[in-house]
Amino acid sequence: MRILLVGNGGRENALAWRLAKSSGVDAIFCPGGNPGIGRFADVAGKAPTTNEGWLEFARSTRPDLVVIGPEAPLAAGLTDVLLANDFAVFGPTRAGAMLEASKSHAKQVMAAAGVPTAASQTFTDAEAARRFARSLGLPVVIKADGLAAGKGVTVATSWAEADEAIDENLLARRFGESSNVIVIEEFMDGEEASVFGLCDGETVFPLVVAQDHKRVFDGDEGPNTGGMGAYAPAPVVNTGLFEEIKSTVFDPMIRTLKKSGIDYRGVLYAGLMISGGKSRIVEFNCRFGDPETQVVLPLVEGNFAELLMACAQGRLSQLIATDAISTGTRHCATVVLASGGYPGEYATGHRIDGLEAWDSATDGIVFHAGTRRAEDGSVVTAGGRVLACTGWDSTLAGACAIAYRMAESIKFTGKHFRRDIAHRALGSRS
Ligand code: AMP
Ligand code: GLY
Repeated sequence: MRILLVGNGGRENALAWRLAKSSGVDAIFCPGGNPGIGRFADVAGKAPTTNEGWLEFARSTRPDLVVIGPEAPLAAGLTDVLLANDFAVFGPTRAGAMLEASKSHAKQVMAAAGVPTAASQTFTDAEAARRFARSLGLPVVIKADGLAAGKGVTVATSWAEADEAIDENLLARRFGESSNVIVIEEFMDGEEASVFGLCDGETVFPLVVAQDHKRVFDGDEGPNTGGMGAYAPAPVVNTGLFEEIKSTVFDPMIRTLKKSGIDYRGVLYAGLMISGGKSRIVEFNCRFGDPETQVVLPLVEGNFAELLMACAQGRLSQLIATDAISTGTRHCATVVLASGGYPGEYATGHRIDGLEAWDSATDGIVFHAGTRRAEDGSVVTAGGRVLACTGWDSTLAGACAIAYRMAESIKFTGKHFRRDIAHRALGSRS
């Protein structure tokens, strides 16, 4: 099988690694991929920036399957263009990706499917938005409708903060067109978890539950980030709740999407809020999460490339029936090493030392996110989140110990990381 992988971050490094380990995979192409991806894929060339550019690349490399990592190309309709040209694609069409690209649309689909979520309303008028926010009380959640690179959500704990978020979106258009519409939502208390439902248009196969750590500092302090670490399985979702999520979230969502003419093939990522043994949806994404993918994929046993192909070809139920895929019994943890200053401003181009020592590890791997190869051949920092140090073991504590050994031993100027990954499952770490 020849695979074309779209995307260039830590999530795609995990995908490239797991796909390369699948039997029957002969070649993986990931143009412009970072040096970590380069260990498993042909990263020659620049990543195309348009649908037409990707189509041309696909025509020249003739992949049997295209796997699309990030939300932006999905929302831009890359899948539609590739399907129209007879490529098999893992990743929803533009209409499917609207679940992530428009929060108000996602709320409508959730309502139609009867999926539990926070009460909300959609606004284009700031005054009306303010009135509704006040009717909900504090804290209150204000969301830019469209894609905002993970920065479009404000959980306001004062009216000044709520009003500022409303004005920044509707009056100042902080996120451009993404800010034309906002969703005002009831605050949900609880513990968050992420589940990736693999979909083939009809059937959903949910992978093991992960928990990510969005705040930059220990103890969930400081500003939000793309994710500073993750672990799986997350015990906050027990077997009973997992089954309930399947029957009250994934099954009704895929049925509702199908009814509205959307043949959803790819990941339906459910962001959950768990409280009192019940779950409600915080958001849906149309792709794998980052850094959750880095802890979920090491736990998937069986032929992962075949699993994604079965989704793309609409034959997931046959594959599940063979019991060829499972998520095993191991635990996995990842610790993100970030650049000094992230999620604010940070410098790049710092040399990274200590990577090679882990190349032959059998109980972990260092996934690259924001890295690049410098002219002298060394690997240097090239983004806010630089590396995801990932360990696996028969216990969660063991998996964390491996990830932290990597995190300590790898060096670059300004490196910082959280010391309390998986603290909710482990109890407080010293
Ligand atoms: P989203 O982009 O919708 O995932 O929101 C980003 C983050 O904001 C989530 O991971 C939550 O931590 C928080 N959040 C979003 N909506 C709510 C809500 N209704 N109640 C509490 N927290 C929320
Ligand atoms: N880790 C959160 C996300 O990928 O959206």
